[in-house]
Amino acid sequence: MKKGILILLALAVVCSSAFAQGMLIGVAMPTQSLQRWNQDGANMKAQLEAKGYRVDLQYANNDINTQIQQLENMITKGCKVLVIASIDGSVLSDVLKKAQAGGIKVIAYDRLIMNTPNVDYYATFDNFKVGVIQGKYIESALGLDKGKGPFNIELFAGSPDDNNATFFFNGAMSILRPYLDSKKLVIPTGQKDFTVIAIQSWESAKAQARMDNLIAAKYAGSTKLDAVLSPNDSLAIGIVASLKNVGYGTARKPYPILTGQDCDKANVKAMIAGQQSMSIFKDTRTLAAKVVEMVEAIMQGKTVPVNDTKTYNNGVKVVPSFLCDPVYADKANYKALLVDSGYYTEADLK
Ligand code: BGC
Repeated sequence: MKKGILILLALAVVCSSAFAQGMLIGVAMPTQSLQRWNQDGANMKAQLEAKGYRVDLQYANNDINTQIQQLENMITKGCKVLVIASIDGSVLSDVLKKAQAGGIKVIAYDRLIMNTPNVDYYATFDNFKVGVIQGKYIESALGLDKGKGPFNIELFAGSPDDNNATFFFNGAMSILRPYLDSKKLVIPTGQKDFTVIAIQSWESAKAQARMDNLIAAKYAGSTKLDAVLSPNDSLAIGIVASLKNVGYGTARKPYPILTGQDCDKANVKAMIAGQQSMSIFKDTRTLAAKVVEMVEAIMQGKTVPVNDTKTYNNGVKVVPSFLCDPVYADKANYKALLVDSGYYTEADLK
């Protein structure tokens, strides 16, 4: 009798994983213009295919309508799960209603999908912690924690349609705000509100243009720029370009402390060259592996792994999340972190 039950159970397990094999999973990525999303997409595809799934991987060129169209197609083609790194987190309600009606599960990838009940899970890096690491870097690089100051700083934030941007900013400000209050940190341009400092679509060119304006307004004379808070690498690229154009990078006019995020190859090179001070390493292999685990659990009717059920309220509900750990990177540790781990080769960074 017992043996019979065991055989049945074993059969059920074999059947459910065989059932998952060959199923179609949709992976919607925002753009190929940034290195990280290419890696995210490639990692997701490779890891899902290794488990026997078929993958419909799409990039939307940062265009909202293109992404919605791609999701519609994925639903029509019979995808069982949609993994979505949204462009604008708040415009997918209609298409996700269709997904829900078709019994399709939705995982928000890296960026939370807002204002809809029809997002089942969220997998990301701890976005608040990313900002905290950036803020702490500025704090200790300037010696604020040792009572030094006052120093001049300018602030940048990410795209206002990306929920992550607020988390990055709030994390960094949780460290920097006390120093602004005590005037150990001063913002000569006075620009500190999220809406004023946010860069639409995370565009390097827009960050460069804003930095040009800040320099023209306050730093044309002898005012020293000590630090710039940049939430990610694409903005840091634009900020460095702007600074370089007006002669930063010499002994008399050194680059300010400048933060970043993603460890894009161009930015690791900029760290090695002393133009950018630090970045955040978010190993896209880890995130992809976690999302693949989530997909497997969904397909097999098992408990989906999450480690946070409080933080990410999308306006309708708290979305059960798995937060991976972001890691600090700079010139001193990039080799161990990025090269020894096989993420990049030495040649990638030449
Ligand atoms: C991601 C960052 C990325 C930014 C721009 C954010 O949502 O978390 O890693 O730098 O988008 O693509």
